[in-house]
Amino acid sequence: MRSKIVAGNWKMNKNLTDTETLLAELSAKLPDTNAEVMVSPTYVNLAGATRALENSTIEVIAQNMHFAESGAYTGEISADMLLSIGVNTAIIGHSERRAYFGETDAILAKKVAAALAKNIRIVFCFGEELEDRKSGNHFKVVESQLKNALFSLDSNAWGKIVLAYEPVWAIGTGETASPEQAQEMHAFIRKTITEGYNAEVADEVSILYGGSVKPGNATEIFSKPDVDGGLIGGASLVADDFVAIIKAI
Ligand code: PGA
Repeated sequence: MRSKIVAGNWKMNKNLTDTETLLAELSAKLPDTNAEVMVSPTYVNLAGATRALENSTIEVIAQNMHFAESGAYTGEISADMLLSIGVNTAIIGHSERRAYFGETDAILAKKVAAALAKNIRIVFCFGEELEDRKSGNHFKVVESQLKNALFSLDSNAWGKIVLAYEPVWAIGTGETASPEQAQEMHAFIRKTITEGYNAEVADEVSILYGGSVKPGNATEIFSKPDVDGGLIGGASLVADDFVAIIKAI
C-alpha cells in the first residue's frame, strides 16, 4: 500500500553508545505523523535497536542482506538472522553497495527474491550517475536498473517493495536534485511500472527520493505528487534534523 515514509540510512556511522543516544533522542522527539519512520543502524547494533524501540512506532531496518539462506559467506547476514531479531525490512541496492561492493543488477535480483521468499519488505535503491545525467541517459539507466532487478516479480510481490530513487550525484554531496527533477523521474518510474505491470501496481508503490535531503529542502521535495518520502543519509544522524524532515512530510 502506498504510504508516506521517512527512512534514515545511517550507513557506517554511530558506535553502540552513539546509537543508543540517537535512538533515545528520536524516541523522545518523534512528532505525531502519519508517515512510517524507519532507522537503519549498523548490523552490530540492530538487535539492541529493536529492543530500544520496542514501544516505539519507529521501525528498525537493515542496510543490506545476503541472498543465501545460510552457509559459507564470511561476513554476511541472512534474512533469517534479521527476522530472528525482529527486523522485517532491508535496504537493497544502495549505490554504495553497487559501487564499492560489486553488487550488480543480477546479484540484486537474487537478494530481492531471497527477501521476498522470507516476507521481508524491501527498500530498493537505484539511480543514475552524473555522467548518465549529463549525457541524457538517466531515464534509460533507471529503467534498466528497475527492469533488471524487479520486473520478473509477480505483481503481488510489489506490495513488499518500496522504491528509493537516489541519483548518485546527489548522495552525500550537498547537491540535491531539484524538486522538479525528482518529480520528473518519479513520474517516469510510475509510467515504467504501469507499462511493465499496470496502473494499480504503479499507483500503490511508495517512491522515496534520496540524496542530500535536509530540513531546508525536504518540504519542497515532499510536496511533489509522486514523491512519497525520503531516504535520508547524513541528516538522519542528527536527531533534530531527522525530526524536522519527518515534520516536513
Ligand atoms: P545523503 O545520503 O542524504 O547523505 O545524501 C542518502 C543515501 O545515501 O541514502
